[in-house]
Amino acid sequence: MLSQAFLGAWLLLAAPSLATDTCKAPINHPGEPFSYVQPRNTTILTPYGDSPAVLPSPNITGNGGWEDALKKAKKFVNQLTLEEKSWMATGQPGPCVGNVLPIPRLNFTGLCLQNGPQCVQQGDYSSVFISSVSAAASWDRQLLYDRAHAMAEEHKAKGTHVILGPIGGPLGRSPYDGRTWEGFAADPYLTGVCMEETINGMQDAGVQANAKHFIANEQETQRNPTYAPDANATTYIQDSVSANINDRTLHEIYMWPFANAVRANVASAMCSYNRLNGSHSCQNSYLLNHLLKGELGFQGYVMSDWGATHSGVSSVESGMDMTMPGGFTLYGELWTEGSYLGKNLTRAVKNGTVEMTRLDDMIARIMTPYFWLGQEKNYPSVDASVGPLNVDSAPDTWLYDWQFTGETSRDVRANHSAMIREHGASSTVLLKNERNALPLRKPRNIVIAGNDAGPLTQGPNLQADFEYGHLAGSSGSGSCRFSFLSTPLDAINARARKDGSLVQSYLNNTLLTTSALTSPLWIPQQPDVCLVFLKSFAAEGEDRTSLDLDWNGNAVVEAVASHCNNTVVITNSGGVNVMPFADHPNVTAILAQHYAGEESGNAIADVLYGDVNPSGKLPYVIAYNESDYNAPLTTGVETNGTFDWQSWFDEELEVGYRYFDAHNISVRYEFGFGLSYTTYGLKDLKAKSSAPSNLTALPAKRATQPGGNPALWETVYTLEAEVSNTGDIDGYAVPQLYLEFPTSTPAGTPPSQLRGFDKIWLTAGEKQTVTFDLMRRDVSYWDVVAQDWRIPSGSFTFKAGFSSRDFHANATATLIKA
Ligand SMILES: *[C@@H]1O[C@H](CO)[C@@H](O)[C@H](O)[C@H]1NC(C)=O
Ligand SMILES: *[C@@H]1O[C@H](CO)[C@@H](O)[C@H](O)[C@H]1NC(C)=O
Ligand SMILES: *[C@@H]1O[C@H](CO)[C@@H](O)[C@H](O)[C@H]1NC(C)=O
Ligand SMILES: *[C@@H]1O[C@H](CO)[C@@H](O)[C@H](O)[C@H]1NC(C)=O
Ligand SMILES: *[C@@H]1O[C@H](CO)[C@@H](O)[C@H](O)[C@H]1NC(C)=O
Ligand SMILES: *[C@@H]1O[C@H](CO)[C@@H](O)[C@H](O)[C@H]1NC(C)=O
Ligand SMILES: *[C@@H]1O[C@H](CO)[C@@H](O)[C@H](O)[C@H]1NC(C)=O
Ligand SMILES: *[C@@H]1O[C@H](CO)[C@@H](O)[C@H](O)[C@H]1NC(C)=O
Ligand SMILES: *[C@@H]1O[C@H](CO)[C@@H](O)[C@H](O)[C@H]1NC(C)=O
Ligand SMILES: *[C@@H]1O[C@H](CO)[C@@H](O)[C@H](O)[C@H]1NC(C)=O
Ligand SMILES: *[C@@H]1O[C@H](CO)[C@@H](O)[C@H](O)[C@H]1NC(C)=O
Ligand SMILES: *[C@@H]1O[C@H](CO)[C@@H](O)[C@H](O)[C@H]1NC(C)=O
Repeated sequence: MLSQAFLGAWLLLAAPSLATDTCKAPINHPGEPFSYVQPRNTTILTPYGDSPAVLPSPNITGNGGWEDALKKAKKFVNQLTLEEKSWMATGQPGPCVGNVLPIPRLNFTGLCLQNGPQCVQQGDYSSVFISSVSAAASWDRQLLYDRAHAMAEEHKAKGTHVILGPIGGPLGRSPYDGRTWEGFAADPYLTGVCMEETINGMQDAGVQANAKHFIANEQETQRNPTYAPDANATTYIQDSVSANINDRTLHEIYMWPFANAVRANVASAMCSYNRLNGSHSCQNSYLLNHLLKGELGFQGYVMSDWGATHSGVSSVESGMDMTMPGGFTLYGELWTEGSYLGKNLTRAVKNGTVEMTRLDDMIARIMTPYFWLGQEKNYPSVDASVGPLNVDSAPDTWLYDWQFTGETSRDVRANHSAMIREHGASSTVLLKNERNALPLRKPRNIVIAGNDAGPLTQGPNLQADFEYGHLAGSSGSGSCRFSFLSTPLDAINARARKDGSLVQSYLNNTLLTTSALTSPLWIPQQPDVCLVFLKSFAAEGEDRTSLDLDWNGNAVVEAVASHCNNTVVITNSGGVNVMPFADHPNVTAILAQHYAGEESGNAIADVLYGDVNPSGKLPYVIAYNESDYNAPLTTGVETNGTFDWQSWFDEELEVGYRYFDAHNISVRYEFGFGLSYTTYGLKDLKAKSSAPSNLTALPAKRATQPGGNPALWETVYTLEAEVSNTGDIDGYAVPQLYLEFPTSTPAGTPPSQLRGFDKIWLTAGEKQTVTFDLMRRDVSYWDVVAQDWRIPSGSFTFKAGFSSRDFHANATATLIKA
């Protein structure tokens, strides 16, 4: 998704003369333009570079509970003219970031597509929820659901029909990716759970969700083709990066969370900017027709990312159902006519190149979720206030006379703030806590340091990195407009006033780190605690170049810690920070709060002061050194070939902790790690009953439902363990289950893979049983020959504990005899 922040970049992306003939046969073979994988060794073309054409595009069937809605959709389609059908598949400039025109004749008021994953991006008087990476760090299914439901209520009240989220990729193959904070965890299982809960929350509130970005949009660098910098950006130079991924990795890592999304009946999916195995995602028929609509049984519609469509007929035949922003291409500041779909699609149907049945299926897919969610009945109108905030298509670019009805600038926040505050605290990860530093006990003398502690200085809608101000969201299409922001400075000052503490704040990082600062600024008295707030900005459009804290953050910590023996560091970052200061003896505590939304300050104060016992867990690995991470982004391609941007996912399944575990690399804080103010125990991991004796290695072939073969989603084995609160403070335990697959599993299988977790409230001293239900897919690997999920023979080791490296109890079992 593009946003106003990328208007400049947009000009370089959306050139229509990316001269793919709209009427060429679908392009999916190596050697063809836009589908060419540069062979790095011409004697080995597979398993990469193989994206065969799969045609025709499957029709929607209505399987899985959509039958009635499909009937209504078909009835609707039957009343449309060819022109109306073409334009419904083609976006238009308008008040929302994506717009499908109304058809008043049929009482259809159009579709409003809005960003994004953390808020109503174009929303005044709306809430800013915790970011997706924060939500993942909560490891809390209920939180994920509640957050999505409340966010969707706000969207609905503003007239949004389709929320452009949640994000199942980027998954975080590389911690440098600029958008990992818009997504969830560097793990397919946890991300899959997050996708499912979020989609259920959104759609239960009556708003369509959109699973994006399909697929493997794992870097921002060269995500789109580059064009010569002429005035109209029409000279094409190099194609977008191709993510080259083998079949097993695609299934077990990148597609996994999207399978959960489809199973949750997600209304739409967004094909991504990058190419996959040589073909643009939006015209990759293997990806869209075979995998998404075929194997996963997806019943909704595929929409393009903004400007990700590079052909007409090819994209349509390959399974794309809607192009966005569509209809018109942005030239400078004006929208002028021209789309690969729109009138071109009408013409292509008229002259027989595209079958009417394909176009009918596109519209049936678009309208089925609409009827399924009852959006035809009394749906709120689009709030006129969103229009002027939409810089993607500012009001002077609109060609349709949008009639706004209903109240303008509706306050849609309800009482969500209280929930957002709870969520901000529940998702905070306590990484270090020594010498009883936390929780604070009425400190008399507090220092607040760091440029991340104070108020926003650059306006309510974060557009780019900024030096002074608290980072509780970020920019790009996932950005938010704060109606208010609770900062750490406000929240701690408020507490301090109640406690009668002294507060000294030093928010200027430069001042703190200049050599002039040879003696503490806060003399004569040694502070009881120094709270250092630091940040890392990450956003759409570019990747990170460093995993250090921004604005000289490491030096700020050193400077404060050299004068303060109780230094507590709080980070607000999009994802990974390496933390060279973590071993400093005066750094007594570290918390990672990520981007925590509008109640960020109150939420962190709740944790620091012990009103909330922290329970967040890392959704990625914090390594000792930046150089410890694998899978570097593809950057700095210096050759000039059109297709030279190739990103080889050679690490295969070794993504995130899977890599560190496979190579026994020590890490500073492992995946799944996070401290509490109490301690927990876990023991007696055992099977609830033995594996069914009639379990087959391959699933029975059953009719495809949304999510694929329903047999994959059936519980085949259940374990349980006793988990206890062994300390004297109540809190949430997060027991986790990891699987070590049998040795019969093909090479490259990671030593530990998350396959279960729960979040359980335990009062001091309390014990409870935690249950881990394993579905067939959880205990299977993708067999590339059988083209199916296979349970390997031999002994599994099940490892349960409180992180990916902290196992308290193990169990073994054979599910399939050799
Ligand atoms: C290409 O792969 C073949 C088969 O593995 C190998 O024999 C050959 O040396 C490789 N060539 C290059 C240039 O790497
Ligand atoms: C889709 O349905 C139409 C009838 O509505 C049929 O003509 C067409 O062959 C079907 N396409 C596929 C791929 O099954
Ligand atoms: C549109 O709505 C009006 C008023 O509710 C109704 O009379 C009419 O039948 C509707 N038209 C269609 C095509 O559904
Ligand atoms: C850019 O496009 C406009 C509108 O089509 C045209 O008038 C102008 O000549 C073009 N400029 C260049 C440098 O191609
Ligand atoms: C048809 O598509 C071409 C690009 O292939 C574009 O230049 C042209 O403007 C389109 N025509 C219409 C009417 O949208
Ligand atoms: C059909 O229409 C399309 C879209 O305008 C055009 O590109 C194509 O050349 C036409 N094909 C034939 C066979 O006329
Ligand atoms: C921050 O401190 C530096 C060094 O003392 C100073 O040059 C700079 O002007 C200060 N910035 C602000 C915004 O006061
Ligand atoms: C820790 O802080 C104390 C001041 O309380 C200071 O004297 C000491 O040098 C600091 N230690 C380090 C390693 O910086
Ligand atoms: C810091 O030093 C003071 C003495 O200056 C001592 O009383 C206090 O316990 C120390 N704090 C920590 C966390 O070690
Ligand atoms: C790439 O193109 C530029 C400009 O045409 C040229 O200067 C450069 O030598 C080329 N680089 C390579 C590796 O061919
Ligand atoms: C396996 O056995 C159970 C009863 O133990 C039965 O319910 C199930 O249908 C059987 N599955 C197959 C595939 O035969
Ligand atoms: C469980 O297994 C892992 C790896 O196989 C081992 O490191 C760990 O010590 C075991 N833990 C227990 C409690 O048996």
